Amino acid sequence: MGVMHIPGHDKQKPREVTLEEIRGVMGDCRLCPLYETRTKIVFGVGNPRARVMFVGEAPGRNEDLQGEPFVGRAGENLNAILSLAGLKREDIYIANVLKCRPPGNRNPRPEEVLACSPFLREQIRSIWPDIIVTLGNPATHFVLKTEIGITKLRGRFHQMGHFVVMPTFHPAAALRNPAWQELLEADFRMLGDYLARHPEDGPVIPATAHSDALPRVEE
Ligand code: URA
Repeated sequence: MGVMHIPGHDKQKPREVTLEEIRGVMGDCRLCPLYETRTKIVFGVGNPRARVMFVGEAPGRNEDLQGEPFVGRAGENLNAILSLAGLKREDIYIANVLKCRPPGNRNPRPEEVLACSPFLREQIRSIWPDIIVTLGNPATHFVLKTEIGITKLRGRFHQMGHFVVMPTFHPAAALRNPAWQELLEADFRMLGDYLARHPEDGPVIPATAHSDALPRVEE
């Protein structure tokens, strides 16, 4: 596999918009009806220069109350397995596709994703991570622009423009399914392995061509 440095595709990219500015634009957002039932907007939290950004689905009950993503049981699971990737919570940035809790934790509706996702897109552009870890189907479908299910997509890296994307199971779903928990943990080990072999200051390795429906990074 060829190793090549692509100028302008690294952490030197100027950040045109800060996370604070994006949050400022969001204000007391009323772009979809979820504002009527939310307690707090859950914008995102973590290192604004994170190498790895995690994307979840939407706030749950605890997140809605506290205004922070992944602070409930799913968050406890996430915290517990981060070390498998050699990561700590303060290393990463976490945001959701939806910034407000859908009532009863129902699935996000397409019109809600449409209204809210420009904020996530701007967060990704601002942070400019090397790797985006998508947790569960809604996050994966949004980032990879596919309807293929997570069980088929997980277990490998996909290239999406500048970003390497690692889709995996949602930590809440994995809590209900021990087989998925094992696979989630295997994916986190794979992520740790990738990070160890691609140091931050090392070369950017472009994706190679594949016949799969989606392009992927050859490992
Ligand atoms: N599940 C998510 O997808 N996001 C959260 O912030 C909490 C639970």
